[in-house]
Amino acid sequence: MDAFLKGSSSSKPKSQEKSKAAPKPQKSIPWVEKYRPRSVEDVAHQDEVVAVLKKSLQGSDLPNLLFYGPPGTGKTSAILAVAKQLFGWELYRSRVLELNASDERGIQVIREKVKGFSQQSVSAVRTDGKPCPPFKIVILDEADSMTSAAQAALRRTMERESKSTRFCLICNYISRIIEPLTSRCSKFRFKPLAVDILRERLQHIANKENVTCSDEVIDTIVETSEGDLRKAITYLQSAARLKGSEEIDKQDVLEIAAVSKNHLRPYDGACDHLLFFSDSSGIIHRVCLQSLSL
Ligand SMILES: Nc1ncnc2c1ncn2[C@@H]1O[C@H](COP(=O)(O)OP(=O)(O)OP(=O)(O)O)[C@@H](O)[C@H]1O
Ligand SMILES: [Mg+2]
Repeated sequence: MDAFLKGSSSSKPKSQEKSKAAPKPQKSIPWVEKYRPRSVEDVAHQDEVVAVLKKSLQGSDLPNLLFYGPPGTGKTSAILAVAKQLFGWELYRSRVLELNASDERGIQVIREKVKGFSQQSVSAVRTDGKPCPPFKIVILDEADSMTSAAQAALRRTMERESKSTRFCLICNYISRIIEPLTSRCSKFRFKPLAVDILRERLQHIANKENVTCSDEVIDTIVETSEGDLRKAITYLQSAARLKGSEEIDKQDVLEIAAVSKNHLRPYDGACDHLLFFSDSSGIIHRVCLQSLSL
């Protein structure tokens, strides 16, 4: 059971703990961010949208876009990659407005934030004299949670600012987006990822992170994550964190999947003194209460 607590600061060698020069423990980056595709070409299995985005990069232009489809299939990754490739890190912050589910998305935000950003004029030349696309991008992630009034306001902003702003709406359900918005966008449906791709991505990440897991474990992650690569990567990271340097087994994955699906109620096989919780990235942690001096 102690193995579940591995990876915490208690596993540090003593000499390192005492040393004044010891580096601060690094905050672990969620692997979904660490392994997010960096370029459009790295987005797997979505050939149609990748082809269009690659063309857009060549011409340094972009249509208004609407990406829809199941979770964890690459929608957010695709637009972030294209925006970074178009503007580079230097211009990214001034040229891209990202609004996601954690932001308020009522009509007020559309009127103030989106409209204000869209109206700013931008040049086709960077400060160092190099050319750059003469527009900005507004990314509205999880757009299906926008109110109808907000969507109507967005439609007007889209009409007025079409010269200097491109919009990318992302959602799971296209039926929840009003027609005047969908008709102004090139629409792309993201397909559920094929089992082979899920397996290959998980194996790649496991190798990079020095995580030992068998084909059976990978297959169990694939089965329990239902084509959602974000979920699959998060399960892998949760299991790796729970087991430390020990090999992950099938039971670990089933337990994590059960905890995740049952809103963090412990898996049936777990003992009473185990506490499960998930952090803000969805990574599941397990603490043995008996090992804590409370
Ligand atoms: N097509 C893909 N190619 C490569 N990696 C992918 C792909 N889809 C998902 N991923 C991986 O899964 C993680 C989550 O993907 P992403 O955020 O793009 O999903 P999404 O489609 O926007 O999901 P949601 O609808 O839940 O927001 C990414 O960080 C990436 O590591
Ligand atoms: Mg997304």
